[in-house]
Amino acid sequence: REILYLEEVDSTNNVAKDYGKQKGNHGLLVIAEKQNAGKGRLGRSWNSPKGSGIWMSFVLKADIEPQNSPMLTLITALAVNGAIRKITGLETAIKWPNDVILNGKKTCGILTEMTAAADRQECIIIGIGINVSQEEFPEELKEKATSLWLEGKRPVSREELISEILNQFELYYKKFCLTESMEVLKEEYDAQLIHLRKQVRIVENNMEYEGIALGIDEGGALLVQVEQTNQG
Ligand code: BTN
Repeated sequence: REILYLEEVDSTNNVAKDYGKQKGNHGLLVIAEKQNAGKGRLGRSWNSPKGSGIWMSFVLKADIEPQNSPMLTLITALAVNGAIRKITGLETAIKWPNDVILNGKKTCGILTEMTAAADRQECIIIGIGINVSQEEFPEELKEKATSLWLEGKRPVSREELISEILNQFELYYKKFCLTESMEVLKEEYDAQLIHLRKQVRIVENNMEYEGIALGIDEGGALLVQVEQTNQG
C-alpha cells in the first residue's frame, strides 16, 4: 500500500482527495502528525493537535453503486471500534452512524467524502480521526471528547492501531461488497451499538422523535420504535 506520511496538512481528507482525483490512487493512505484545518461532519472542525492522534484518510476507488457509499462509514466505524477494542482492551461502542464512544465520550470520528476522478470514476475518501494520547482537551470539548490515554492510562501504538484498522476494514469491505448492503454485517454492527434497545431521541425534518433503537436495517438506517412525537 502506498503511504503518504506528512508532518502538517490542512486536512488529510483534502490531500487524499487531490491525489485521488489526479491518479485514482486506489488504496493510498495519507497520515499526518497535525492538521491545521481538520474537518468534522456537518461543517464542523476537528481538533487535531500534533502527535496526539491518528489523523488519516484513505482513497477507495468505488466499485460500488454511489448511493451505497454512505454505508462505508458504518463499516469504517465497525473496523475502528473492533481495532481499538482488540489493541487496547477498552470497551468502545458505536454511536450510530459512525462515532466511536468510550465511557460516554467521543474518541473517534469518521468523515467520508466522494469525488469524481479525472477518468470520471468516483473516488471515495475515508477520513478517520482518533484521539489517542491527549491529556486534556480544549474547554469547549472537555464534556464530549476523550482519548484512549485518558480512559485507559496506557500508551497505545498508533502504528499497531492503524494496521489493525486497515486489516479489519478490508475484511468488512469484502463482506459488504457481496451484497452492497449491511445484510451480512447488521448483526455485528448492532452488537456494538451503544443505544441498542435503549431510549433515543432523533431530530429529522424539524420533527423530534423519541423511541427505542432497534438496530440498523440493510441500508444502514437506524430503526427506531417511536413512542411519541413532538412538533419541533
Ligand atoms: C466527525 O465530525 O465526527 C468526523 C471527524 C473526522 C476527522 C478526520 S481526521 C482525518 C480526516 N481529515 C479530516 O479533515 N477529517 C478526518
